[in-house]
Amino acid sequence: MTENPSLSDWARTLASNWEARAALPSRDLFVASHPGWNDSEAWERHASTELELFLAGLDLEWLKTVDALELGCGSGRIARGIRAAARSYTGFDIAAGMVAAAERRCAGVDGMRFFVGDGLSVPAAARDRSYGLVLAVAVFIHCPRAVIAANVEQAFAVLAPGGQLRLSVLAYPDDPEGLVVSQEQIERATAAVADDMQRVIDNLTPEERRLAFDTYYMGDRFRYAELAPFLAEQTGGTVELYRGDPGAIYAAVKKPS
Ligand SMILES: C[S@@+](CC[C@H](N)C(=O)[O-])C[C@H]1O[C@@H](n2cnc3c(N)ncnc32)[C@H](O)[C@@H]1O
Repeated sequence: MTENPSLSDWARTLASNWEARAALPSRDLFVASHPGWNDSEAWERHASTELELFLAGLDLEWLKTVDALELGCGSGRIARGIRAAARSYTGFDIAAGMVAAAERRCAGVDGMRFFVGDGLSVPAAARDRSYGLVLAVAVFIHCPRAVIAANVEQAFAVLAPGGQLRLSVLAYPDDPEGLVVSQEQIERATAAVADDMQRVIDNLTPEERRLAFDTYYMGDRFRYAELAPFLAEQTGGTVELYRGDPGAIYAAVKKPS
């Protein structure tokens, strides 16, 4: 990586790192890095809780009438859940290995299609329709700001009027703005999983450790106050933020009807 990476340098680096993670039998560890990632029941439970968080407040009757696009679909963890909630599902990912895993996981379900993306834009084949909902779940928490900006602009462009883009980014844990839970609740929740998470880390193979810690894995952080202006600048849309935990900020970027 050069000292001042360009957008295409970043796209190459992200693609190569995620392709390496996708090639591991433990790719799902990188798709959802939480205790219980290798227990199918816990993994499904975590996936549906996360999807609910991203769909919070949406009119679910309306959602059934619109097409959904998932940016950074990974191995298809939440793809079938999105498909069940929307008229159709399109997913894409920067890593072909992730797309192949997602196709395997969703085989036989109608109204689903997957594409490989270039890390900076919506694949041309997916631009054949406008979407009511574009979701980027746990994707931008792994991206540098310039890549987030490019993707947000592109994702907003394929939204239908009245549609919205929902995404998450990394927060600064010491930034209290927007937090709706108390410090005490946060400490309790963090303590509850700390030992299990440490066990996950202790059990990483050298290659998993390298791909989690020695390559670009976690993305750029945002202060709560700067995120809405940043997203509005890329899109011209209306931005709403929500933040249930200190580690992340969730955003809905809406296109006027
Ligand atoms: C932590 S996984 C989350 C996958 C899925 N959204 C989920 O929640 O199960 C992040 C995924 O984003 C993909 N990704 C990272 N940067 C991307 C980019 N710039 N464009 C498209 N996909 C990207 C990775 O390949 C990886 O599959």
